[in-house]
Amino acid sequence: MKLGVNVDHVATLRQARMTIEPDPVWAAVEAELAGADGITIHLREDRRHIQERDLKILREVVKTKLNLEMAPTTEMVKIACSIMPDTVTLVPERREEITTEGGLNIAGMLNKIRKTTDNLRSGKIKVGAFIDPDIRQIEACKKINFDHIEINTGKYSETKNSITAEKELIAIRNSVVDALDNDIKVNAGHGLNYKNVADIVKIDGIEELNIGHSIIARSVFVGIRKAVEEMILTIDKASEKKKN
Ligand code: PXP
Repeated sequence: MKLGVNVDHVATLRQARMTIEPDPVWAAVEAELAGADGITIHLREDRRHIQERDLKILREVVKTKLNLEMAPTTEMVKIACSIMPDTVTLVPERREEITTEGGLNIAGMLNKIRKTTDNLRSGKIKVGAFIDPDIRQIEACKKINFDHIEINTGKYSETKNSITAEKELIAIRNSVVDALDNDIKVNAGHGLNYKNVADIVKIDGIEELNIGHSIIARSVFVGIRKAVEEMILTIDKASEKKKN
């Protein structure tokens, strides 16, 4: 299973002082050297962490895959089409939220999403969406014919109740099967850490995990390279167990 590292949190620290360090571009290079399969950034409307400067430089520097998370707005489509990330993942955005709170309601905004996706595809960008593990959303994603989806593991990650966690894992598993039946590539992420990632790795069919907070938090103590290596090791160990 592949690992995409989200480096927004490095930019959050930089923006806390409105200074030039730490630089998310350096973080991305370190993550790639440690074996990450991709780099993810979220350019938010309020520019609270990642800046356009980061996106431009990362486009030049990232050698693996650059995934841009963005809201489905005209401004963001324009920026994406000028910078050309390898993939775009459409996400919902609310100014008041601390982090992305849930998946995008594709079913509730089909026309807007179709227009956004068409515009990005005309720029030859592969497009996907961050959605909750809900069959209704997968059904809507089929209509858009996304290249990929990213299933929101937030609810699974946040719950302290084992029954809720098991229910979420079942919903995630069912969503993966349904998406793959329709030739949509499946990624997953949000709230994953060194402990809870194993049960997600055990689900067949997920191609890539997007992980940010736990890796950057760990890197405060061990450095980004080691923190990414440790996550890759954790994922690989869980994959091995799945095979046996
Ligand atoms: N995927 C999406 C769509 C996100 O918005 C985020 C958070 O920026 C992540 C994955 C990574 O989540 P976390 O930082 O909790 O690992």
